Amino acid sequence: MFEETVSPVSGAKLDHIGIAVRDLEAPTSLYSQLGLVPSGREQIVEQGVEVVILQAGGSRLELLCPLNEDSPVSKFIARRGEGLHHIALEVEDVRSTLGVCLEKGYQAIDKEPRIGAGGRLIAFLDPRSTGGVLIELTQSSS
Ligand code: CO
Repeated sequence: MFEETVSPVSGAKLDHIGIAVRDLEAPTSLYSQLGLVPSGREQIVEQGVEVVILQAGGSRLELLCPLNEDSPVSKFIARRGEGLHHIALEVEDVRSTLGVCLEKGYQAIDKEPRIGAGGRLIAFLDPRSTGGVLIELTQSSS
């Protein structure tokens, strides 16, 4: 199924790791005490989350706290508890990468890219086609 020659995310860089949390204060202070530096906080109302970004070398942690019970992150926490939620791979062009993924038979939660944290264009692949790991495709400027 995946033997074709074009690899959809070749050259991608690990952009951030998303961590689902029930509230932002305790984990922000925990990671700060570990030495990571918070660099931003933002509500993404359409996705029902508030996000804190912590710088970790060239990469980042993204703490995701649900704003309400309908948030997908609420459902995730109810099912699996707090913890690792997704990994984000930075690609040059989310739209074309998503297209190649769909063409190759990967399933996507987003059939179309949308705007995520920091105003960046993102799209999530369905963990059922990526070995149980939720993968976010992201690009630095859209
Ligand atoms: Co993310």
